Amino acid sequence: MKKSVKVIAAALCLSILLSVAAFAGSSFAFTQEERDKTAADWDKIQSDDTVITLSVGAEPGEIGFSWLSGLFDGVPEFRYSESEDMKNAEKCEVTVRPTLWLKQSDKVTLSGLEEGRTYWYSYTEKGVWSEPQSFTVQPSDKYKIIFTSDAQIGRSGNFRDEDVLINDTCGWQRTVRLAAARYSDAAFIISAGDQTEKGYSLKQYKAFLSPEKLRNYPLVNVIGNHDFYFPSYTYYSNNPNQVKEHLAMPAGYGFYFVYGDALYIVMNSNDFNAADQDRLMRAAVTAYPEAKWRIAVLHHSVYSANISDDDFSFSRSVFAPLFDSYNVDLVLSGHEHLYNCTYPIYNGELDENGTVYLQASSASGSNFSSAKDSAVKYSRFILKENVATYTGIEFDGDEITINTYRTDTDELIDSASIHSRERKAESNPLKFFLSMVVSYIKTIISMF
Ligand SMILES: [Fe+2]
Repeated sequence: MKKSVKVIAAALCLSILLSVAAFAGSSFAFTQEERDKTAADWDKIQSDDTVITLSVGAEPGEIGFSWLSGLFDGVPEFRYSESEDMKNAEKCEVTVRPTLWLKQSDKVTLSGLEEGRTYWYSYTEKGVWSEPQSFTVQPSDKYKIIFTSDAQIGRSGNFRDEDVLINDTCGWQRTVRLAAARYSDAAFIISAGDQTEKGYSLKQYKAFLSPEKLRNYPLVNVIGNHDFYFPSYTYYSNNPNQVKEHLAMPAGYGFYFVYGDALYIVMNSNDFNAADQDRLMRAAVTAYPEAKWRIAVLHHSVYSANISDDDFSFSRSVFAPLFDSYNVDLVLSGHEHLYNCTYPIYNGELDENGTVYLQASSASGSNFSSAKDSAVKYSRFILKENVATYTGIEFDGDEITINTYRTDTDELIDSASIHSRERKAESNPLKFFLSMVVSYIKTIISMF
């Protein structure tokens, strides 16, 4: 890439990293009983340094694990079995590396797992085995996933205030509990970024990881603008197929994986260098050219309803041409704390063969923003109430079904379907490069 374009890309990155959504306060759906329970559990949550996360693998037969242990506790052990009593358990190699929290980050990757089978796993802390926990490799021919974003633990007030953290944690716990109850057979959970208010806070990460069901489902974490600047994200994820970015950030890189007919491209949208994002997309579609569905997941919303139709947005100018170019079917985002789902869009116009953009609301209730009255063209549905939501997405043959629920009543608020379509011809590299340059120039002009 030419030097001038690199400079423009860097300027855009800086701008977006400093950007924040306009917020309209918090609103929680939890009951007093739930609040009391989270408060009673708080010391236990904060004293558990070894809470574990599961990550998706490159394909359904793979799963990654990540957890922390003491710097001088040696290399922990990890084993898994097809039965709860850990009979015939298989031991796995654990890799360790130091962290900036003066603990060590431990990782395991399992492969060769069978679809439709439940496995149990356990690992050691100072030589003591943890209680076995289970996960199920869901059959990939027809499956469901859970989509959330922006739990952002610590956002609803002063992030040093324990009551603030407990409120946000309780809201997030309720969302995960409701989602996992309705979609108990989900293949994995997506959290599209901003897991915590402060990306460096181990305390907030422990709170984010506290929902018990997160021990049982792979979690697709995405790098948000509150996450990019510290490697916490890398300590709590074990992602496959990472594609190194030129504008590398401490939280790591975008990656891709496939599940059934769907190719997922999980982007670090803090990197507004379109050449980096193009390389990730290219690597993904080259590795899995036959995938029926292309799903992009990124933190920054591209067609949020709190952006007027005529306003210029960084994310829209950079990412929309990319998604047009690669015939992405569905884009999952967050950041704006406002739920809206668009009609199919191509080249800035409604087009039945275009891309559907789904923007999640807050998953905890820690903060919300409002829709603009002048945002009317793209959104098929906008949730105008401040209530945390979760979305279930089902893949079945030639159809993707999207159902979104509010977490105060657990009622369905939005439902949509996407049908497989004829892909448009992919843009040639020159056309895409020119579109990227035009987008950059328009964005720079819009800044003055
Ligand atoms: Fe954000």
